[in-house]
Amino acid sequence: MSSPCRPPKRRVTPEPPAGLRGDRGDRGDRGADHGAGEMRLAKYLAHSGVASRRAAEAIVRSGRVRVGGEVVRDPARGVEPGADEVLVDGSPVSPEATEVWLLNKPAGVVSTAREPGSRPAVVELVESPARLYPVGRLDADSTGLILLTNDGALANRLTHPRYEVPKTYRARLAEPANRRQLEALAGGVQLEDGPTAPAEARRLGGTEIELVIREGRNHQVRRMVEAVGNEVRQLRRVRFGSLELGELAPGRSRRLSDDEIARLWKDAGGE
Ligand code: URA
Repeated sequence: MSSPCRPPKRRVTPEPPAGLRGDRGDRGDRGADHGAGEMRLAKYLAHSGVASRRAAEAIVRSGRVRVGGEVVRDPARGVEPGADEVLVDGSPVSPEATEVWLLNKPAGVVSTAREPGSRPAVVELVESPARLYPVGRLDADSTGLILLTNDGALANRLTHPRYEVPKTYRARLAEPANRRQLEALAGGVQLEDGPTAPAEARRLGGTEIELVIREGRNHQVRRMVEAVGNEVRQLRRVRFGSLELGELAPGRSRRLSDDEIARLWKDAGGE
């Protein structure tokens, strides 16, 4: 039987598309921990990449974990990252700090996980040792603002339709958009997976329009434009919640500040 405990001194992040799995809790879950800066031992181990939260509970109960030199068998015991020494089978483990990056995605880069041998992936364009995942998707042909993070709870909030985080796109169309098309885009159009929610649509000049949507279905903008009888030729996301793409060159990324991350939480209905 293989042990659920992987070699220690690891990166920390959540297992797979953590945030996108939606089972890692939410902001409220953070608040459910003990004192300021403390978290439950099982959660600490999960955030350290040791095992899933449930498997971590079993590891703790089996007596393999020491905190400050003492064996602890209570998975709910509070520990303080950075202050308490936590050992699993004698090796130290610690959680990875959460990171959020903003990337100006160039065309031709996929926003799914790395696929060796195929097209480059957005995660390869960010210089971080953390295990980052894209927050939602942009089509390979689309460009512009995409976020990457190892904070599963934040990713979940930002992509869940319930939180209606606005995403702003600039689209170059095959034909100049007429009033009827703009009104239809704004009012909601019928797609094969149901009607779209109200959006904002305006003409910028020539064949370019700006569209703000609060959902994130596959190919949504392209399908909406097609549904009103036009066609997207180029698509760029310029804003995500309160974050602007700004002057970042294609292919370049920058790590968000704590203030910017706090704003994102607010955008997604957090405190
Ligand atoms: N809508 C689309 O059609 N494509 C994208 O990449 C993003 C939104």
